[in-house]
Amino acid sequence: MNLLKGKNGIIFGALNEQSIAWQVALAAVEQGANIVLTNTPLALRMGEVDKLAQLCNAPVIAADATSVEDLEALVDGAMAHFGGKIDFVLHSVGMSPNVRKNIPYQQLNYDFFSKTLDISAVSFHKVMSVLYNKRAMNEWGSIVALTYLAAQRIVVGYNDMADAKALLESEARSFGAIFGRDFKVRVNTISQSPTPTTAGNGVKGMKTMLDFAQAMSPLGNADAKDCANYCVTLFSDLTRKVTMQNLYHDGGFSSMGLSEAVYEIFLNNEH
Ligand SMILES: NC(=O)c1ccc[n+]([C@@H]2O[C@H](COP(=O)([O-])OP(=O)(O)OC[C@H]3O[C@@H](n4cnc5c(N)ncnc54)[C@H](O)[C@@H]3O)[C@@H](O)[C@H]2O)c1
Repeated sequence: MNLLKGKNGIIFGALNEQSIAWQVALAAVEQGANIVLTNTPLALRMGEVDKLAQLCNAPVIAADATSVEDLEALVDGAMAHFGGKIDFVLHSVGMSPNVRKNIPYQQLNYDFFSKTLDISAVSFHKVMSVLYNKRAMNEWGSIVALTYLAAQRIVVGYNDMADAKALLESEARSFGAIFGRDFKVRVNTISQSPTPTTAGNGVKGMKTMLDFAQAMSPLGNADAKDCANYCVTLFSDLTRKVTMQNLYHDGGFSSMGLSEAVYEIFLNNEH
């Protein structure tokens, strides 16, 4: 369909084939975009990003999303590669040392908590701030970050990532107002279904969460490829006036109270 023909984008967070960002990169290129891939130096060594870079004919620029210096070099490098400004950015970055180390919410390690917030939320502000200060976005460009429903509702095991996602979503609104006013650029978050990725599988009880969400959602869980398609629509010119929104992409889960499938499970348990 060439929905992104002639558009230039930066994609953060592709680590391996399971990564949501991996699927977004493939879908964006399939729709005609030119992209630059980025991840941390460690992820570039450990992951399979080179394989994706070949598939997408895209350069890879290492950047730690918590480092403004790295982000400045990334944005400069991407603009030099494109020979122009940027049309879309995907922030697909998240990590909590507290979740990784199984530390419960009521006993958070605060150094780790700061890291969670810096990597998973403040990095989004830094990305947008660098793009803004460098006037790097084209008019009617689109910036998207990935988030999760635990920002609004308690989900067991999500721990301090819930707080990070609440901050991330707030930044999308705050910066969206400024980016819209000054550059006609939109900023949104996509609140994605649980998805079996490296980050997703780090959450305790992920398999149960996936099964529960699947049983609750009228359309079933949205997978990484579904998410990639949704990202393409938000990068495209078909959604120019959508901004400062947290957009649920979860097969209907967020509007459900009780589904037949879950009702049946509890009914069967009664007998
Ligand atoms: N998997 C799910 O269930 C789910 C659901 C909703 C939202 N999300 C969000 O989707 C996004 C992508 O996660 P994913 O599920 O594809 O997992 P993933 O593990 O494939 O991706 C997370 C990425 O973050 C990168 N990253 C970590 N620290 C970084 C840093 N300092 N600088 C730059 N990059 C860094 C990792 O290298 C990795 O590529 C995250 O924001 C995650 O919270 C995931």
